[in-house]
Amino acid sequence: MATPSTPRPRTSTRDPEELRARLDAWIGTWQPGATATGLTVPQSNGMSSETVLFDLRDGDGQVRPCVLRLAADPDAFTVFPRYDMERQYRCIELAARTKAPVPRLLRLVTDPRVLGAPGFLMERVEGRVPPDVMPYTYGGNWLHEAGDAERAELERASVALLAELHTAPVAEAAFLRSTAPGDTPLRQHVNEQRAYYAWVVEGRPPSPLIERAFARLEQLWPADEGETVLSWGDARIGNVIYQGFTPVAVLDWEMAALGPRELDLGWFVFLHRFFQDLTVAFGQQGLPEFLDRERVVAQYARASGHTPRDLDFYTLYAALRHAVVMLRIGYRQIHFGETPAPEDPDRLILHRDSLEAMVAGRYWG
Ligand SMILES: Nc1ncnc2c1ncn2[C@@H]1O[C@H](COP(=O)(O)OP(=O)(O)O)[C@@H](O)[C@H]1O
Ligand SMILES: [Mg+2]
Repeated sequence: MATPSTPRPRTSTRDPEELRARLDAWIGTWQPGATATGLTVPQSNGMSSETVLFDLRDGDGQVRPCVLRLAADPDAFTVFPRYDMERQYRCIELAARTKAPVPRLLRLVTDPRVLGAPGFLMERVEGRVPPDVMPYTYGGNWLHEAGDAERAELERASVALLAELHTAPVAEAAFLRSTAPGDTPLRQHVNEQRAYYAWVVEGRPPSPLIERAFARLEQLWPADEGETVLSWGDARIGNVIYQGFTPVAVLDWEMAALGPRELDLGWFVFLHRFFQDLTVAFGQQGLPEFLDRERVVAQYARASGHTPRDLDFYTLYAALRHAVVMLRIGYRQIHFGETPAPEDPDRLILHRDSLEAMVAGRYWG
């Protein structure tokens, strides 16, 4: 995800004309006479997989608005080592078994020869997404301009959405089971993050701050991890489409996994704090009342019947995971010559002060 001081790096080396030709050929194999028109790449809230919007126009001129998600181009110094599009597709199928709104899936393409990369097609959902660039905590966007009662309604409905996603039938989700070492889903999850961090710093300077954060996690490790649920992963309002202030589609399953409920809650709360803290650092007020940790926890308990625990652990873990992503994005910008390498790699982590404060146990006051 891009942030105010990290301009969105280039993502694609793919040629849109070539993609359009491939799309038409592919569509023709399952809907003869139909074509792809109006291809656009949205001012996206992310920078990993590629999102392409287009209209599927059939022989009778009927139009179906669609979204194609393609795995990131491996030559583009990707944020993550792997883009498993089938896994994302299956997560959406699983989420569709709950009452949470997800886009209707149309087609999965696993063969990279068809469109140039594996991907899937879904219907486009009308609505609006809280922006990341500039973040919704800055002025000049619909969420910031809304009234307190409207934001409170969006907050309540979004937490209820999390609780609903966590009712997905994970017993049937063998495809999501981790193969990382560890005797619990949380241990496996953290070990996967350690492997991701090792991949990011391979041949590059390590981050002392991230390593301190991993050590601190061990000290805060939950005594009881609770039930294992479908963890959406990049669980935040910037991955929800709203109509008015009501969620109408959950997006972005790139970071999905199995694990405790609090994985998503910690990420949900922290990613707001990330934007909020940056906004304050820029001398603005932001939205200090919005997505308050205690209130979100209470709303989740009400919506799910489960009282979240160990939020100090899970918000620290979210800040740590986000720091690894930031470090990778920083190394990517250095790789493309967009920024010089700093002497201290921790300077690539925009929220280093917040993370440091969490490690020291003085962030939440
Ligand atoms: N099914 C969809 N309907 C409408 N818009 C979509 C849909 N899927 C993605 N988008 C648009 O594309 C943007 C990026 O999608 P997302 O899945 O969050 O990918 P990423 O953050 O990895 O780029 C969204 O913010 C939204 O504007
Ligand atoms: Mg996204």
